[in-house]
Amino acid sequence: MYLKGKVAIITGAASGIGRATAILFAQEGAKVVVTDINNTGGLETVRIIKKRKKQALFVHADVSKESDVKTMVKTVKEAHKKVDILVNNAGIVLVKPIMETTEQDFETVVNTNYKSVFLCTKHVLPYMKKGGTIVNVASISGHVGQINHAVYGGTKGAIIALTRALAWELAPRGIRVNTISPGSVETPMLLGDVQIEAKRLGVSMDKIKKERSDIGALHRWADPKEIAEAILYLASDKSSYVTGTDLLVDAGWAAG
Ligand SMILES: NC(=O)c1ccc[n+]([C@@H]2O[C@H](COP(=O)([O-])OP(=O)(O)OC[C@H]3O[C@@H](n4cnc5c(N)ncnc54)[C@H](O)[C@@H]3O)[C@@H](O)[C@H]2O)c1
Repeated sequence: MYLKGKVAIITGAASGIGRATAILFAQEGAKVVVTDINNTGGLETVRIIKKRKKQALFVHADVSKESDVKTMVKTVKEAHKKVDILVNNAGIVLVKPIMETTEQDFETVVNTNYKSVFLCTKHVLPYMKKGGTIVNVASISGHVGQINHAVYGGTKGAIIALTRALAWELAPRGIRVNTISPGSVETPMLLGDVQIEAKRLGVSMDKIKKERSDIGALHRWADPKEIAEAILYLASDKSSYVTGTDLLVDAGWAAG
């Protein structure tokens, strides 16, 4: 068990990559804190973990709001006294041409995807000791240009830059900070993204899905579990010499 006795907060763990990470971390011995804006999905993640006789706690939080983040961290502190691992995974996608993007759209995406990383990191750090790890979920969109994903991609590029700087800032405290950049992962988010694109172009979802699969050398989407495995590597002591890096888990998309 790679995470025996570790306390791990995973944001956005009610669905997709976050849920898969929470389940894997619990399997590896972590006391998992599932946090999300979606209570039903969050509680379902906890139910799946507890059914396997592992430990998990759901704490509701909108991670784009400082008051929610503070309350979430306080609850975790009261339950577990410490935090060893923070996975900043919560996010939303925006698929819109820049000229149709409103100020409200911009603020919602930036606050959910980027401000949340700042808020969770800031408020968790007082309870994170030497050996702690932070894994931020960026995206292939932070590396390559994607039509109608400018604001979303901007948040992911920002997360990668923030991570590099934090790796240096937190190294003296013995805390490592890294990002992961997934390619196409079969989750409700990507399916929604493909649906919008298919509607915009007047083609079938299968056509867009095939195109998005063929953009990677492996010609398929990832299962969220395959991303969770990479997050586990960065969160665990297996990556003890790795900080400030971005791990592309993209089937070779960026390499093509
Ligand atoms: N699916 C992909 O292909 C893909 C590719 C690259 C990066 N990512 C990134 O992976 C992460 C997870 O995405 P996913 O595909 O699993 O999506 P998902 O929609 O399945 O899960 C995202 C979760 O984040 C939660 N969330 C959204 N806003 C929140 C808020 N303000 N506070 C708390 N929770 C909030 C949602 O409720 C949901 O449970 C995101 O950061 C996304 O940008 C996904």
